[in-house]
Amino acid sequence: MTYLISLQKTGIGIFNMAIHNKSHSNSGLMQLNKMKRNNIKHKSALDFIIPEKTNCILLCDDCLNTLKAIPDGSIQLILIDPPYNLDLATWDTYEDYIEWASKWLDESYRVLSPNGNMVIFGGTQFQDIKSGDLTEIIYHCRHNTKFRLVNTIVWYYKNGMSAHRYFANRHEEIIWLTKTDKYYFDLDSVRIPYDEKALKEALRDKRLNSENVLKGKNPTNVWQIGRLNGNSNERVGHPTQKPLEIIRRFVKALSYPDSIVLDFFAGSGTTGRVCIEEKRNCIMCDKDEQSKTYFAKHLKKMDENLFSQKYIKNNSLELFFDEINKRKNTKDMFVAEHSTYNPFQDEH
Ligand SMILES: C[S@@+](CC[C@H](N)C(=O)[O-])C[C@H]1O[C@@H](n2cnc3c(N)ncnc32)[C@H](O)[C@@H]1O
Repeated sequence: MTYLISLQKTGIGIFNMAIHNKSHSNSGLMQLNKMKRNNIKHKSALDFIIPEKTNCILLCDDCLNTLKAIPDGSIQLILIDPPYNLDLATWDTYEDYIEWASKWLDESYRVLSPNGNMVIFGGTQFQDIKSGDLTEIIYHCRHNTKFRLVNTIVWYYKNGMSAHRYFANRHEEIIWLTKTDKYYFDLDSVRIPYDEKALKEALRDKRLNSENVLKGKNPTNVWQIGRLNGNSNERVGHPTQKPLEIIRRFVKALSYPDSIVLDFFAGSGTTGRVCIEEKRNCIMCDKDEQSKTYFAKHLKKMDENLFSQKYIKNNSLELFFDEINKRKNTKDMFVAEHSTYNPFQDEH
């Protein structure tokens, strides 16, 4: 039996932010509202299916070997937190950084679906000719690939190391690339609820669309999310482990249930954990065998938090794709209806 259900919304936190009063003059937003009134879907909207179980695989291999084994156009979201040659660890050493990075960027473009998204964590921190950083990746993508840059997200955190010879670092940049302008984006799934006072004010403001106000705010491209402290409950031992909250926001907004997410610098497997919790399939790869131990700890923590652990663990990419393809033909799933928005048009 097939059910029509709406997506469950997860509150991400309440921020105090200024209310933008631009909706009344935003022609893109007005057009979207008109389409909604007339029941016309945006070109990037799609219906998706929520399966009982999704698939997950963690390969211990070099990223290029894994990428080469993935079919063209099969991935909805690539989410990576690459090494930058900063000598932070033994895996962080490459002679010619961008020459190496260009290989996985080209492969990423090939495996990404036409409405797919790619997210790259980084920062601007070059030190010498050997080190890489996000500006170098952006320059390369702009001049040598067909990727489009949708957003640079500033990840702002209040906790960090102290410094005496420079201003203490409190942000990192993350880029969101797409292959086409028909990229999938579910803003509603990551909106941030107004606090009580701001909500009352926003609802009184005649220039704002009350339907959108009730759904919450656009998180904007500056995200305040704490970095993981050494004693954080989320920690599984990886030195550069990312917080679940930041990975979850990308997974929810840029992929849909039962689509495939790829993280080929998986580290501890934070992406895999979020994908299981959010019913996405996930391919992870890391050249360090230690990743398996870290990921096992993530899985254990999922149990502790009473998160659903319903997922299928695959040992080969062939089996992984076989099972997902088989599922596409079965009816024993939930169909969820939702809408998506183009961030170039939607300001609120
Ligand atoms: C910054 S960490 C990722 C941390 C991860 N986001 C997390 O939350 O745990 C980068 C990872 O890339 C892996 N790595 C480095 N070079 C690699 C390569 N050529 N192929 C696959 N993995 C690689 C390292 O072993 C390291 O675990």
